[in-house]
Amino acid sequence: MAFGRCFRSFERMDISISNTRLLLWLFLILSRSESVYANSIVDIDAHEMQSLLTLKEILQLQGDIWQENRNPCSSWLGIACEDGHVVSVSLFSMKYQAVGPSQNGSLMLEKAVQTLSTMSFLRSFNATGFEFRGQLPDSLGKLGKLNALDLTGTALYGSLPASFKLLSRLNFLSLAKNNLTGSISPFVEGFYNLQYIDLSCNSFTSLLPFTLFFKASQLMYVDLSHNGFEGVIPPFMGNLVNLRHLALGHNFLQGSLPLNHLKWPHLEYLDISNNNLQGPIADSISQLKSLSYLNLAHNYFTGSIPSAISSCTKLQTLILDRNLLTDKLPLSMITLKNLVVLSLSSNNLSGRIPSKIFTLPRLTTLVLSHNLFFGMLPLNELKPALIQVFDISYNFLEGDIPESLFPVEKIMKNCFQGAPTQHSPKACKQFYRRIGISWQETQPRSGSSTGNNTFTWLVQGHTRKNKRLLVILGCAAGGAFVLVIAGFCALCNERHKAGFWGNHSHMIH
Ligand SMILES: *[C@@H]1O[C@H](CO)[C@@H](O)[C@H](O)[C@H]1NC(C)=O
Ligand SMILES: *[C@@H]1O[C@H](CO)[C@@H](O)[C@H](O)[C@H]1NC(C)=O
Ligand SMILES: *[C@@H]1O[C@H](CO)[C@@H](O)[C@H](O)[C@H]1NC(C)=O
Ligand SMILES: *[C@@H]1O[C@H](CO)[C@@H](O)[C@H](O)[C@H]1NC(C)=O
Ligand SMILES: *[C@@H]1O[C@H](CO)[C@@H](O)[C@H](O)[C@H]1NC(C)=O
Repeated sequence: MAFGRCFRSFERMDISISNTRLLLWLFLILSRSESVYANSIVDIDAHEMQSLLTLKEILQLQGDIWQENRNPCSSWLGIACEDGHVVSVSLFSMKYQAVGPSQNGSLMLEKAVQTLSTMSFLRSFNATGFEFRGQLPDSLGKLGKLNALDLTGTALYGSLPASFKLLSRLNFLSLAKNNLTGSISPFVEGFYNLQYIDLSCNSFTSLLPFTLFFKASQLMYVDLSHNGFEGVIPPFMGNLVNLRHLALGHNFLQGSLPLNHLKWPHLEYLDISNNNLQGPIADSISQLKSLSYLNLAHNYFTGSIPSAISSCTKLQTLILDRNLLTDKLPLSMITLKNLVVLSLSSNNLSGRIPSKIFTLPRLTTLVLSHNLFFGMLPLNELKPALIQVFDISYNFLEGDIPESLFPVEKIMKNCFQGAPTQHSPKACKQFYRRIGISWQETQPRSGSSTGNNTFTWLVQGHTRKNKRLLVILGCAAGGAFVLVIAGFCALCNERHKAGFWGNHSHMIH
């Protein structure tokens, strides 16, 4: 099931995401007047002490974590207070004692929520990774004063309870990496204070939360990826002028990407891959001046890659694989000097590849496979020492290629001369006739011109290639050695006109 894949890929992304998350959260904290995490030396409120002890019992925490004879505010892991009141509870890295299948997670969660609701100064509840294995209780609405609710990876299932909509003071909400179902719109529509929402990797369905996207103008971070959302991306999402991060990938979204309305000046990350989006990529993409990550892969986008994309000068990653894009690459793309990843495979892009693409200074991944590119590779422009991932297979590129220096599968099915597993000469001839260029099948190269010795294709971290390189260097060294010997002998011959080498010296002179 898709869910499992989602979970694993997320684990891998965790480092970068938690960094972003941390920064955003720091921002949230700093932008508030009071400092939430300042521990207090004041004795804790007696009722809240009792609540914490109850909570400890309900959660059956493993180990001797929360010790009764110590002040929770100063020495309990995950508890933060202010003026003797608990303001934040975090269960991160905690586990409950070994429990069997008889454990009723829903009941545990319901009791925990009940207890938390008695702490009237509580602003943040973080249970990241604490596996409740249950449903969200309807009493959740009693935590209506929370600013932050983080239930990432807590093995929740079922739909959101009706009272969820009472959590309207939240500015941080994460329910990511659970198995929650149903619609979210009726529950989160009134969350106008939200700055951060992550519901990724669940099984939510139906439409995106339109009202939220219309009104929560402080939203900075939105991740609804890996769910079952349908419908369109509403144009008025352009109202979210503070948006930095928008991930809607791996859903069933339709319609076009209304770029004319989406002027997000601060947007750095946009991933809407793996949906059913269609239509052209509009020129107005140039308005996304802060964009550094753009992934539109695996949709039905048509038309050409707009030349205006060159205005997104901060772009580091551009992924457009598996769409229906056609035409030439815009020459202006060569001005995207920060590009690290350029992946355009499985479209119908054509024309000659602008040679300057190969010299982009930071490029490490260049994937152009399964397109209709033709013409010669600008071998003398290649600065391949930096490129780690390179694939130009399944095109109609022609000319000589030092094939011994490329892995066969990365250049296969082109019209390269003398290289293995290329298109048939007939197919190449047909293709080139169709575009009005004549294509000659030339003879396989003769022994003396196997590759250009001045060209070395060195790909970092590719052991097979490095081995090949070693072989080549070895051959070159061997060749040099032979030349030296030959030169030496020629010299000998000059000195001793007669002898065994005499005939050969004529050949050398
Ligand atoms: C678990 O607890 C909930 C109440 O939170 C209850 O409705 C449900 O029936 C319980 N399930 C089992 C298997 O005991
Ligand atoms: C919850 O805890 C996790 C792990 O420490 C952290 O990454 C996350 O930012 C926390 N959430 C909030 C809202 O502080
Ligand atoms: C999610 O829930 C569905 C049905 O509710 C179930 O079939 C599926 O196995 C669950 N997935 C996980 C990873 O728990
Ligand atoms: C892509 O080009 C191939 C070959 O010209 C053609 O058969 C196919 O229909 C084209 N696909 C699209 C989506 O344009
Ligand atoms: C081949 O070598 C010549 C000089 O020997 C050089 O000018 C040319 O750029 C090289 N071609 C390639 C493709 O590296």
